[in-house]
Amino acid sequence: MDTVSFTAAMARVPSPVTVVTTYGADGLPYGFTAGSFVSASLEPPLVLVCLDKGASTHPAFATTERFLVNVLGAGQQEVARRFAASGTDRFASGDMRPLEGGLPGLPDACARIACRLHSVLDAGDHTALLGRVEQTFTSERTPLVHVDRLFHRAVRDRPEPAGAAEGNAHGSQPPMTERAFPLIFAERVGMTADFYELLGYTRQSQNPPQGEPTYIGMRRGSAEIAVVSTDWPRTQCGLAPGPGPRFEMFVLVDDLDTTLKQLTDAQVPVLRAPADMPWGERIAHVLDPDGNPVAVACSTHR
Ligand SMILES: Cc1cc2nc3c(=O)[nH]c(=O)nc-3n(C[C@H](O)[C@H](O)[C@H](O)COP(=O)(O)O)c2cc1C
Repeated sequence: MDTVSFTAAMARVPSPVTVVTTYGADGLPYGFTAGSFVSASLEPPLVLVCLDKGASTHPAFATTERFLVNVLGAGQQEVARRFAASGTDRFASGDMRPLEGGLPGLPDACARIACRLHSVLDAGDHTALLGRVEQTFTSERTPLVHVDRLFHRAVRDRPEPAGAAEGNAHGSQPPMTERAFPLIFAERVGMTADFYELLGYTRQSQNPPQGEPTYIGMRRGSAEIAVVSTDWPRTQCGLAPGPGPRFEMFVLVDDLDTTLKQLTDAQVPVLRAPADMPWGERIAHVLDPDGNPVAVACSTHR
């Protein structure tokens, strides 16, 4: 196993962001940022954190009696960076206070877990510190997580919409406040939804649930559209859609030739054959069942 593949795979694994602190035999505070923090046993309550044998803090932690794990919250990435930086006084800013067991703690942490060192295990180039949990503190703060080599805030996943649970590999829904989608006025709602299914959209909701739909909500990854009947703007706000093309949909796909073959097999008219654009996209235009142009594109930067 090569290091690049190993670290690439591990970068995809979300980890907590913690700052582990202790006092050394010299009476000075020591701390380091750790993503390797995990619970190890319930009875007795044990946690584990791995520390690089070459780290400047290693001698202090390998011989300590107690340590405190500060679990960082969203917005505390500056603390994580400071406790990962070498050759600086990580405690100089004064944001750490003597907290559980008198150990250096972050008052507004997401959680704190105070431990007595239980055992020190050899873990390759790291040392695994097993700690027996003595005291804990928790707050309502949203946790900070590290994944894909970046800091993120842990947000609650939303339940899958009805019908999207099994076999739908299109990912989770973005938070409600980050959603926006156009409503497409279509003469033939069902047929237009069928067309967008060919482009990878899946039906998420339908109104009325039975019979001829006047509204079909669709999703493709985080992209959403709703196909509604041409009656919709009149019933909602007293307007009627004009004739002719009313919008152009732009859909990016992985493989333009394969998608175009599927569309032509389904008798979708092609308005313009694929053409390479100077900005690095290959684009073809087709016609949706309502007469609107749809650009189907893929990137040529690969
Ligand atoms: C998000 C993140 C997670 C980290 N996780 C660990 C870890 O679990 N174990 C570890 O030894 N170092 C980890 N590090 C690196 C240490 O925080 C620190 O940079 C390293 O111990 C070098 O410190 P030194 O200058 O004291 O030698 C992590 C750094 C970051 C930014």
